[in-house]
Amino acid sequence: MATPGGSFLANKYLIRFCVFVFLSTLCFLEKGFALSLTERSADTSKSHLLHDHTHHTAVQLNSLLPAKTCSPSSTRGYDHKKASLEVVHKHGPCSKHNQHETKIPTHTQILQQDQARVNSIHARLNGDKLRQLDTSIPAKSGSVVGSGNYIVTLGLGSPPKQLSLIFDTGSDLTWTQCQPCVKSCYKQNEQIFDPSLSKSYANISCNSPVCSQLTSATGNTPGCSTGTATCIYGIQYGDNSFSVGYFGKERLTLTSTDLFDGFLFGCGQNNQGLFGASAGLLGLGRNKISFVEQSAQKYGRFFSYCLPSTPSSTGYLSFGRGGKGPSNAIKFTPLSTVSQGGSFYGLNVVGIIVGGRQLSISSSIFSSSGTIIDSGTVITRLPATAYNALRDAFRQGMKGYPQAEAVSILDTCFDVSGSNVVSFPKIAFTFGGGMTLDLDAKGILYAVSTSKVCLAFAGNSDDNDIAIFGNVQQKRLQVVYDVAGGKIGFGPAGCP
Ligand SMILES: *[C@@H]1O[C@H](CO)[C@@H](O)[C@H](O)[C@H]1NC(C)=O
Repeated sequence: MATPGGSFLANKYLIRFCVFVFLSTLCFLEKGFALSLTERSADTSKSHLLHDHTHHTAVQLNSLLPAKTCSPSSTRGYDHKKASLEVVHKHGPCSKHNQHETKIPTHTQILQQDQARVNSIHARLNGDKLRQLDTSIPAKSGSVVGSGNYIVTLGLGSPPKQLSLIFDTGSDLTWTQCQPCVKSCYKQNEQIFDPSLSKSYANISCNSPVCSQLTSATGNTPGCSTGTATCIYGIQYGDNSFSVGYFGKERLTLTSTDLFDGFLFGCGQNNQGLFGASAGLLGLGRNKISFVEQSAQKYGRFFSYCLPSTPSSTGYLSFGRGGKGPSNAIKFTPLSTVSQGGSFYGLNVVGIIVGGRQLSISSSIFSSSGTIIDSGTVITRLPATAYNALRDAFRQGMKGYPQAEAVSILDTCFDVSGSNVVSFPKIAFTFGGGMTLDLDAKGILYAVSTSKVCLAFAGNSDDNDIAIFGNVQQKRLQVVYDVAGGKIGFGPAGCP
């Protein structure tokens, strides 16, 4: 059997799309809109630029830029009883990958890769819409991955080998590069996992029912190796990154007390793409094969994370409700279903408040686009109409600063040279259930340099494309996924 991965890849996948159906979402447009901005005091004491304490706020420009050294956070989630992993940004002083990997992408590269991820999400969802009408339309891609990614480290095998994986709420299959790398492995920071050195690894056979689950999890029909009849997975992402290999099961060690035997994962024999020096991916989507589902008995489909505001600080990814449950600071909104059997977590955005004013955006704009929350998309994407309203209101509130040239997809940038403190209008999102979320300063301003900041949002070219609540907007927030309870919660300042 020559290069099973290669021949599998060479065969055009029979890619099947799951059917994505937007459940009609309840819009709470009449109530909950009474400008219930919780007034937090400004982030900084040096707020001499603050002209309006309720609707403007200010931030030290320095705090938006990453430091050269890592300052790990002691925060491990709001409940210490849970299984908690440290989250670091893929590029930055807190990631050990960085010591070997000096190639930090530029802002333009990050934003271009981000657009590739968004395009693939749209293609996937739009393809499904079309497919309902015409089943002969060929599919483009099964899954998505992008650049602005966060990493956790966990143990695989017996004895456990530490592996750093990108965690992704937008995909399901967990995989890591595996020896003997039959076809190809990219350079990763840790030693490549070798199943032959583990006492607990086993291949999944082609006729096992879990092998056929791969179809909905990856969008590709699994293959079968000749001879040993080992189930072969293949997953490709929006930017043409891919992983192909044996579908196996193995002991996964999250923490010293939290072990999972028989965890299903991809043992990648042919891997290429934008995974940095990480060892692979941890899939946290909604499909049966995701880690959230495979650990459901122990953690009850409950997890939370905090994405650090800069690559020089750390956050957490926690599983399980723990003893206390979420703190009162967490406000919840219903989790909606974007798709049947799909990976995505849906949110119902109903409005945007800028500088204390509700933007006048017709309710049908958000309800017809739909919105997902995604840990892998960097910049939040809004329907064009909504973005334009946000941009205009934000520019109005930033009149004191000269406008600066656009940076890739960010078209609303300002020259802030000479100021240590940047004053800007607050932005809040309102969600179904009457919940209002005040964004952190780091979720509003994208600092390009010490003299330039941009509004950290972009518009979709088509109002019908799905809106995406991206990871810049999630920074520093405690984000709680209570999948079993059908809700997603947000709380302020969960990590530095
Ligand atoms: C898993 O299957 C592959 C492909 O047939 C084979 O090369 C490998 O030895 C198998 N590993 C184990 C532990 O059975």
